[in-house]
Amino acid sequence: MYSGNSYKKFPEFYDLLYQRYLKSVPDFVALVEKNTPQKGLILDLAAGTGEITIPLLKKGFRVISLDASQGMLRELKLKAKKQGIKKYQVTKLDMQKISYQKKFDSVCIRQAINYFMGSKALAAGLKKIFASLKTGGKFIFNAPNYQGEKKYPALINYYKKGEQQALVVETNKITGQILKHRQHSALWKTGQKSEFIIDENSFYLFTRKEFARALKKSGFSKIKLIKSAKTLYFIAIK
Ligand SMILES: C[S@@+](CC[C@H](N)C(=O)[O-])C[C@H]1O[C@@H](n2cnc3c(N)ncnc32)[C@H](O)[C@@H]1O
Repeated sequence: MYSGNSYKKFPEFYDLLYQRYLKSVPDFVALVEKNTPQKGLILDLAAGTGEITIPLLKKGFRVISLDASQGMLRELKLKAKKQGIKKYQVTKLDMQKISYQKKFDSVCIRQAINYFMGSKALAAGLKKIFASLKTGGKFIFNAPNYQGEKKYPALINYYKKGEQQALVVETNKITGQILKHRQHSALWKTGQKSEFIIDENSFYLFTRKEFARALKKSGFSKIKLIKSAKTLYFIAIK
C-alpha cells in the first residue's frame, strides 16, 4: 500500500494512473511547435515524465526540462533512453526558483501552472518566466477553465499498459479556489498480487481573467487565449 503524492512517492506509476490527462499532449506540442523558431531553445517547466519534452526533442528543438521531483525526471530519462534520445538536459528545481535571463525562445508549462498556489506565487513565477525569455519569446501554458465552485462526481477509470492493469477512482473537491484531488487505485498484473495506492495533491484554480491580468502585470505585451469548456490555452508574447 502506497500513499502520498505520486510525483514524489511513486513516479513510476504516474503515466499509467494519469493517462486521461495525456490526451491533450499532441495539441499542446503542436502549439509550442507553432510558436517557437525551428531548433529554438525551450524551457519545459514542471516537465514531469517528459510527455512534452520528448516529442519536442524529436522535432529538433533544444529543451531544458525542469521539475521539482527527482523521480519524475528519472522517468523522463528512462523514456528518453528507450527512444534513443541522448541530447537533452534536466534540472531538478522548484519552478518558483528559476533565474535565467533572456535565454529562451519559448517557455512552456503543461498541466502544472496551477501549482503556483495563489496570486502572489503566480505573479512571482510569471516575473521570472518573463525574465527568462528573449524579446519576442513566447510563454505557452494550459490550465483548467475554472468558472467558480462546483461539485464533481467521482470518476472510475480502467487502464492497461503492457501487463500492468489499474482501476482508478478519482474524487475532486473545491474549497474556495483550492482543488483537492484524490485517487484510490488498485494495480495488478495477471497472476500477481494487487497493489493499492492512495494519491493526493492540491492546486489553485485561477480564472481566465486572473491569468490575463497577471500576465499583463508581469510585462507580456500580447496575450492570446484559446478556450474550450474545460481548458484554457494561453500564449503570451514578451
Ligand atoms: C501533472 S504533472 C505534468 C507533467 C508534464 N508537464 C506533462 O504535461 O506531462 C505535474 C508536474 O509538476 C511538477 N511540479 C509541481 N509543482 C512544481 C514546482 N513548484 N516546481 C517544479 N515542478 C513542479 C510535479 O513534480 C509533476 O511532475
